[in-house]
Amino acid sequence: MQTNSTPKPIIELEQQALSELANATQETDLENWRISYLGRKGKVTLVLRSVSTAPEKQRAALGKAANQLKAKLLKSLDERGKAIQNLDVGESKKEAFDIDVTLPGRPVGKGALHPTTQIIRDISKVFDSLGFKWVEGPEVESDSYNFQKLNIPMDHPARDMWNSLWIDNEPNSNPTLLRTHTSPMQIRIMETHTPPIRVIVPGKTYRYEATDATHEWQFAQIEGLAIDRNITFSDLKGTLEVFAKRIFGEKRRARFRCDFFPFVEPGAEMSIDCFKCEGNGCRVCGFSGWIEIMGAGMVHPKVLRGVGYDPEKYSGFAFGMGAERIAMLKHSIEDVRDFYANDLDFIKQLG
Ligand code: PHE
Repeated sequence: MQTNSTPKPIIELEQQALSELANATQETDLENWRISYLGRKGKVTLVLRSVSTAPEKQRAALGKAANQLKAKLLKSLDERGKAIQNLDVGESKKEAFDIDVTLPGRPVGKGALHPTTQIIRDISKVFDSLGFKWVEGPEVESDSYNFQKLNIPMDHPARDMWNSLWIDNEPNSNPTLLRTHTSPMQIRIMETHTPPIRVIVPGKTYRYEATDATHEWQFAQIEGLAIDRNITFSDLKGTLEVFAKRIFGEKRRARFRCDFFPFVEPGAEMSIDCFKCEGNGCRVCGFSGWIEIMGAGMVHPKVLRGVGYDPEKYSGFAFGMGAERIAMLKHSIEDVRDFYANDLDFIKQLG
């Protein structure tokens, strides 16, 4: 603190020191400044040393003023040091604003839907527009739902159509397995709902099968079920023809031929005319002009009765298709094993 009694050289020294300190912007400036004023041969240090040799009358005042100055400069040095640190932060913030906003952005990695998910969604959209609701069911099924309630009793030879992955196959019990098709959901829906019913059931299915270009042990199916009064085979045909045209093109024609599935009567396999060769015959259609795309039929009266429906009152149709097979046809994919080989290039190309 300066008072009237503060010696003039001390006042001048203080002003000089503080104005120099105000110009310091780096740590090295601070250190040089400290050496120059407070170092062993620094200006303030020299004044302090000179106190003992000063004229007796001035000694006390000079000593006090010099000590006060030293304390003040040390404090100012400390404050300036902190200010410089804040200055640094300010500078780096400024750099953040130096980013060139006109540079093109870095590409952002985009995810893609798996081809199976994609085709299931495409197909579901078609059925959604026809009033079918999306439902899902368990992948671990009981023998009863996967087979018996679908009119396939124990030891029925038709079981050979579905090579099963059993989870628990104890005789005299209700064994469990990974569902071999989505048809068990027909039963689960009918047992818990009263007609009219219109549902599709997309989901994973499993078969005990050696894999090759057209067979996977795990794949996805889309089941369909419609139950009401007066549903006829022409409803089945009309519905599935709309589906075929929407997925494979408006020009497509559908063909239904007799086939056997224990839970439908009559049963049919549905084919479309080959979109590749327009029916003339090529590799895709095996030179037949037709491509089989799903199984279908009118729900068997025995199945209806089993879930408590009166077959005299209600009728309906069901269908089931392989999701990957539809995607393979639509996108000319040659090997079903590509779907689950985790090759990102393949998986991304349809998404
Ligand atoms: N569930 C049958 C299968 O997996 C397909 C099917 C479903 C057939 C519905 C007729 C009716 O082979």
